[in-house]
Amino acid sequence: MSENFAELIIGGKKLELPIVEGTEGEKAIDISSLRRESGFITIDPSFLNTGACFSKITFIDGEKGILRYRGIPVQELAEDASFIETAYLLLHNEFPNSDQLECFSKLLTEHSMLHEDMRHFFDGFPRGAHPMHILSTMINALSTFYPNVDALSLIDDINVTAARLISVVRTMAAFAYKKSIGEPVVYPSADDSYCANFLHMMFDSPVKKYKVDKDIVKALNQLLILHADHEQNCSTTTVRTIGSAQVNLYATISAGISALSGPLHGGANQAVMSMLESIRQDGGDIEKYITMAKDAEDPFRLMGFGHRVYKNFDPRATIIKETCHTLLNKLEIEDELLGIAMQLEEVALEDPYFVKRKLYPNVDFYSGIIYKAMGIPENMFTVMFVLGRLPGWIAHWKEMISKGIKIARPRQIYTGKTLTHLSDIVK
Ligand code: CMC
Repeated sequence: MSENFAELIIGGKKLELPIVEGTEGEKAIDISSLRRESGFITIDPSFLNTGACFSKITFIDGEKGILRYRGIPVQELAEDASFIETAYLLLHNEFPNSDQLECFSKLLTEHSMLHEDMRHFFDGFPRGAHPMHILSTMINALSTFYPNVDALSLIDDINVTAARLISVVRTMAAFAYKKSIGEPVVYPSADDSYCANFLHMMFDSPVKKYKVDKDIVKALNQLLILHADHEQNCSTTTVRTIGSAQVNLYATISAGISALSGPLHGGANQAVMSMLESIRQDGGDIEKYITMAKDAEDPFRLMGFGHRVYKNFDPRATIIKETCHTLLNKLEIEDELLGIAMQLEEVALEDPYFVKRKLYPNVDFYSGIIYKAMGIPENMFTVMFVLGRLPGWIAHWKEMISKGIKIARPRQIYTGKTLTHLSDIVK
């Protein structure tokens, strides 16, 4: 047998299935002809072993804790690049030179305003509505203002559309927050950087000027970079799946936001803070929560721990933990929750349950403590994840449509009743 094929003997028939290999040596068996040739399909619930596409955007080696965007280690980007440069890199497959960056920044500024008619939409949401649901609704509503943005008619406009999405989502997030606290909205400014602009819209008020702190801007920039892409995670897969039906891009991104809101995905950063707060109010009894997390009968999980792909450490978590310490020190904030988080991590990393299952702190474990130090309310934490992840979603959508779309449509193995006639039931 050739080295480039896997041999499968099935129903007395021998099949040669091609082996494909990526640029980093990852190997896969190409089963695209399997059903046609054998009548069999594969079954892989939750896609633990299934590669859904070829992608040039992000490389992860979960065993070694490697994360690279377009080949560049995320640590280098987090140290030396801006979020906007990183967004450009993901979208265009090259790090921007100064002209490209200027053009991109100009586009972002031009498209940072929310259509005035949409401002009134915020009034319709009930008080206390979760900002993630408000955000996914508002992004979906953009599809009514820009209906011709789908996989077939978009191509020429993608730069404008990407800029509008990346820029306006920040305005929407800040408006949603201002509405929730009953303050007038603050419009974006043409002079501030992406992160400074967001903080200004969030915290400036007619009676109290907000002074943007450069350490907060730096930390926010880094957090957004670390969240900017993570290959085929649940929300990105949602974007690719929905986009494959040639759905309007805004509606597609809205679905990605909904997927991200779940506590097993981006919603974990908010859930971590609730968990740490519960532990604090419970007298800081770490062992009790570790025991609960290990109990198979108890639905409680250690939020911010574990990852489908990382089985060694999450490189994002390592950077975020360090930034968390640096920022809290600079701002002279002592947060009891940071102490609890560190103790929890220490105990869990020594515990055979977590060691055996290779469960480590993930990106969400320390990020909430930083957001809290910045003054961002807890229910906005997952919205912050959206700001970071948008370039990644758009890059994947672009990559998908550039290869020609085939609608995503998995199969199943039916396990329900066999043929049952109505006349046998209703006499
Ligand atoms: N606390 C306690 N036990 C856990 C945890 C946890 N956080 N995570 C996994 N396990 C156990 C799980 O019960 C299972 O045990 P057993 O083998 O005895 O049945 C084993 O570890 C494997 O877990 P799994 O659920 O099969 O793993 P998965 O790859 O399907 O799930 C995960 C990954 C991230 C959903 C999961 O680890 C989890 O629920 N973590 C807490 C939520 C969280 O922090 N989510 C953010 C993920 S990172 C940001 C993002 O990508 O969105």
